[in-house]
Amino acid sequence: MPDQNFLYLNAIQKKPVERTPIWIMRQAGRYLPEYLKVRDKYDFITVCKTPELATEVTLQPIRRFGFDAAILFSDILVIPDALGQKLEFLKDHGPKLSPQILQDKDITTLSLNGLEEKLSYVANAIKMVRSELDGKTPLIGFSGSPFTLATYMIEGKPTRNFKHIKQMLYSNPERLTKLLEMLTTAVTRYLKMQIEAGAQAVQVFDTWGGILPTHLYGLFSAHFMKQIVKDLKPYNVPVVLFSKGGIDLLGQLANSGAAMLGVDWMTDLAEARQKVGHVSALQGNLDPTVLYGKKEIIRQEITKVLNVFGADSGHVFNLGHGILPDIPIENVEFLVEEVKNQSIKLHSKIG
Ligand code: CP3
Repeated sequence: MPDQNFLYLNAIQKKPVERTPIWIMRQAGRYLPEYLKVRDKYDFITVCKTPELATEVTLQPIRRFGFDAAILFSDILVIPDALGQKLEFLKDHGPKLSPQILQDKDITTLSLNGLEEKLSYVANAIKMVRSELDGKTPLIGFSGSPFTLATYMIEGKPTRNFKHIKQMLYSNPERLTKLLEMLTTAVTRYLKMQIEAGAQAVQVFDTWGGILPTHLYGLFSAHFMKQIVKDLKPYNVPVVLFSKGGIDLLGQLANSGAAMLGVDWMTDLAEARQKVGHVSALQGNLDPTVLYGKKEIIRQEITKVLNVFGADSGHVFNLGHGILPDIPIENVEFLVEEVKNQSIKLHSKIG
């Protein structure tokens, strides 16, 4: 495949771009009527595990909005599923993993054997999406971070206070480390498989790293993500790390070797640029709830984000976290048009 001139990949490499690229986290999902139609017929796990359905849903937001990158439709929890923990999505309650991983004996029930084979539906979906995209839009693969996967595996379900993982962290850190090491191997092998199947960048979602006190974030989350970035280096594909939790965490990821760092909406993007923008490109960081707002305010908030980089490359426009399921679709259309129009002007004025 010849080197493609994609805005998304060029911005990550800080090469000159004629405008800022945009895609949004969770762009394939419930705010789209065409997604809900697929979900009327098939449950969520079936969509993830059926390459034809995962491909269709991956392409839906690209067709409708013309985003500058596609992200594979899947879920971070397919790894615990492949390791042998039972995964269910309960209506209105989100994911459930059982039994919870609480004791050493629970860890021994997990197995890395045949991981790629068990997740081959993901590789097949990637190949299918690449073929459908036909070199017009780049495809992002993804995984959860070891720490974020561990929170779901230990808690068994979404949680407010993260009691069980914190209990393990402070009462038996060796046990938690053992699980995180296993997950690091799983995530690395999984992302290698995705890259070999055709993912042109990979993003690690560290959604819950920010629940750790700053001084433990390095040891229990960043450390393992750095290992993953290092092990993927030979593949020459950009690795993006998205942690939710602010400027201190970004500082700890500065020497991670990641090509791009995600910035959550609570963090000041200009401050983030000053702190880590010289080492990595940055992605973000419009508050997802801005999209409930009125057009003038959406426009102003977009301008604020775009002005941080002005005509410079090294920025991929995104939300500061995933899009919410009840966002009006016309506001997403407005967002994409505004980002494209405003950034073309910014880039041509000075460039
Ligand atoms: O970005 C994309 O469009 C690709 C698809 C994608 C999904 N999940 C689809 C999904 C991605 C990248 C994810 C990542 C993911 N999954 C994360 C990390 C990113 C983040 O938002 O923090 C996490 C923590 C999960 C785990 C997960 N999956 C939860 C907690 C839930 C239930 C809550 C919710 O948002 O519904 C899911 C379900 C899920 N994953 C849905 C989708 C479209 C909704 C399922 C449905 O159709 O009912």
